[in-house]
Amino acid sequence: MTRPIALVTGASSGIGAELAHKLDARGYQVVLVARSQPALERLAAELHDAIVVVADLSSPDGRQVVTEAVPVVDLLVNNAGFGAYGELISLPEAQMVEMVEVNCTALVALTAHYLPQLVERRRGAVLNVASTAAFQAGPTMAVYFATKAFVLSFTEAVAEEVRSTPVVVTAFCPGAFSSGFQARAQLEESKLVKGRSLPSAAAMADAALKALDAKKVVAIPGLVNKVGAHGTRFVPRAVLRRAVAYVQAEA
Ligand SMILES: NC(=O)c1ccc[n+]([C@@H]2O[C@H](COP(=O)([O-])OP(=O)(O)OC[C@H]3O[C@@H](n4cnc5c(N)ncnc54)[C@H](OP(=O)(O)O)[C@@H]3O)[C@@H](O)[C@H]2O)c1
Repeated sequence: MTRPIALVTGASSGIGAELAHKLDARGYQVVLVARSQPALERLAAELHDAIVVVADLSSPDGRQVVTEAVPVVDLLVNNAGFGAYGELISLPEAQMVEMVEVNCTALVALTAHYLPQLVERRRGAVLNVASTAAFQAGPTMAVYFATKAFVLSFTEAVAEEVRSTPVVVTAFCPGAFSSGFQARAQLEESKLVKGRSLPSAAAMADAALKALDAKKVVAIPGLVNKVGAHGTRFVPRAVLRRAVAYVQAEA
């Protein structure tokens, strides 16, 4: 019997690698997408007949490599993403554009490619990894927070469009958790993470799959994160952005 296919972007580390393990255990044939070929191959060796697709999702060519290698999927996990810590005026323009390409454009392109077939077959799901960053503006991570607001808005809208079908579309919005993210974003000196013990990527992967099983459109793991995210609606925006600037500042 053929196994359903789950395509996971950003599978070379962090929550993506954990999701790949858990989806493999659930009986999916997992497609592992990222740029780091050795890490993907090491992971594939631990799974049953996983498929490795080495692709840079910041370019249209890289996105095409993915859709040509694997034209049909049952579950799409748009997880690849990165952030960068610092004021916009101190960060490279090319890196900011690349962040929008990976965090937003690739997620839209892959969803637009695979969703029609899921709706046509009346089964399957799309899991988009957003963040609690989606709920407010983020001074010192302006582009990153804006990309996650985009992911949340886009996912909610598409979920509503397919509501009358059996296809599930979920935005998973974790707070900070332990992964390669902090080092890549150079966030380690910020009050947001310095000295804090963060939840594991494996625990977040469990929470993401639980949200998908429950067919949630928006899932925020953890009580503090839930209160924080929903609480933003009751705080004046000027106060909120000042508070985020304080929390994001160096410890
Ligand atoms: N960790 C947190 O605190 C946190 C909190 C909320 C949300 N998130 C979100 O969780 C998701 C996963 O991040 P993580 O925390 O697991 O971090 P991570 O360990 O750094 O993993 C990021 C993944 O994205 C892939 N990626 C980055 N740029 C790529 C590109 N151009 N093309 C293809 N793949 C690319 C990386 O693979 P390669 O480098 O091999 O390409 C890696 O597999 C991200 O969307 C992030 O925004 C993280």
